[in-house]
Amino acid sequence: MKIFITGGSGLIGQYLNVGLSKSHEILTQYYKHIGNCGDYNSVQFAINDYKTLESTFKTFNPEIVIHTAAISNAERADKLPADEVYDVNVNATKYIAELCNTHNAKLIYTSSDLVYAGYRGSYLTEESKLIPISLYAETKLMGEVKVRETLTNHIILRVALQFGFGLNHSRSHFQFIYDELKNERKVKLFSDQYRSVLSLKESARMIAELITKDVSGEMLNFGGTERVSRYDLGKEICRVCNFDESLIEPVTMERVNATYKVADVSMNIDKLKKLGIEPKSLGDSMQELLTR
Ligand SMILES: NC(=O)c1ccc[n+]([C@@H]2O[C@H](COP(=O)([O-])OP(=O)(O)OC[C@H]3O[C@@H](n4cnc5c(N)ncnc54)[C@H](OP(=O)(O)O)[C@@H]3O)[C@@H](O)[C@H]2O)c1
Repeated sequence: MKIFITGGSGLIGQYLNVGLSKSHEILTQYYKHIGNCGDYNSVQFAINDYKTLESTFKTFNPEIVIHTAAISNAERADKLPADEVYDVNVNATKYIAELCNTHNAKLIYTSSDLVYAGYRGSYLTEESKLIPISLYAETKLMGEVKVRETLTNHIILRVALQFGFGLNHSRSHFQFIYDELKNERKVKLFSDQYRSVLSLKESARMIAELITKDVSGEMLNFGGTERVSRYDLGKEICRVCNFDESLIEPVTMERVNATYKVADVSMNIDKLKKLGIEPKSLGDSMQELLTR
């Protein structure tokens, strides 16, 4: 298949480049960082440069578009003018959806677990209440709305917190935890925020599986099987790598005065599993990642 990946230089995008290029013809887009895009058929432009977007669709004519490009982090979004965040995360998403419509391409849009109301209990389903509390999360939700309004041939993935090693320039919080523990430095980790963490490698593998299925018009929670805090994640690193667990200090979001106190956006992934897509357990993913 012909697949156009936006945000190909990002944490997830670079893993998609590696995974999808094995069996598909890909075109991958980057903006300020090249990441591994130079190893593939790639194109550099700002995602809200509509002329280049349009000509890219015309020349490449993708069958599938995986739209990951975004201002992808709440703290980063807060440092930018709100209209810039809106333009990149909402307007550009709408335009990409319109181009997919025109060119008969399926759009896979990576939304976020942070669109959910984080105080409403555990293992949220796709129908659970949505209350995005940051500008970032709000624009991801608005992106979802634009996709649904614009074309039926789409899949929206509510992506869980990713863990793993970023390729090239990209870095995840997981990597920071790993480096601190490896170098025997103390690290403070939230013990009261729960997510359905998923490894970057698993995300790319599961997206590659998903595009082979006859699925359209679906909203899917896209996470791992376990509900864990960052403190649990740190403990899992220590278990697999034999690092000293006493280096981890559990802290509450209140104590470190976190800007966005999201208590629990762990997700129920039954819908994903019904499609035959089964994420590896946290233990197996961690083993795969850390015992290379
Ligand atoms: N990582 C997570 O834990 C997580 C969790 C939930 C949802 N998500 C969603 O998954 C997607 C990918 O996340 P990620 O962690 O891979 O993000 P990332 O590492 O921050 O990468 C973001 C990508 O978007 C591109 N980008 C940003 N602004 C752009 C602009 N104005 N024009 C063109 N490209 C632009 C970046 O390009 P350059 O770097 O080349 O500038 C990069 O390729 C995002 O939509 C995010 O909301 C991620």
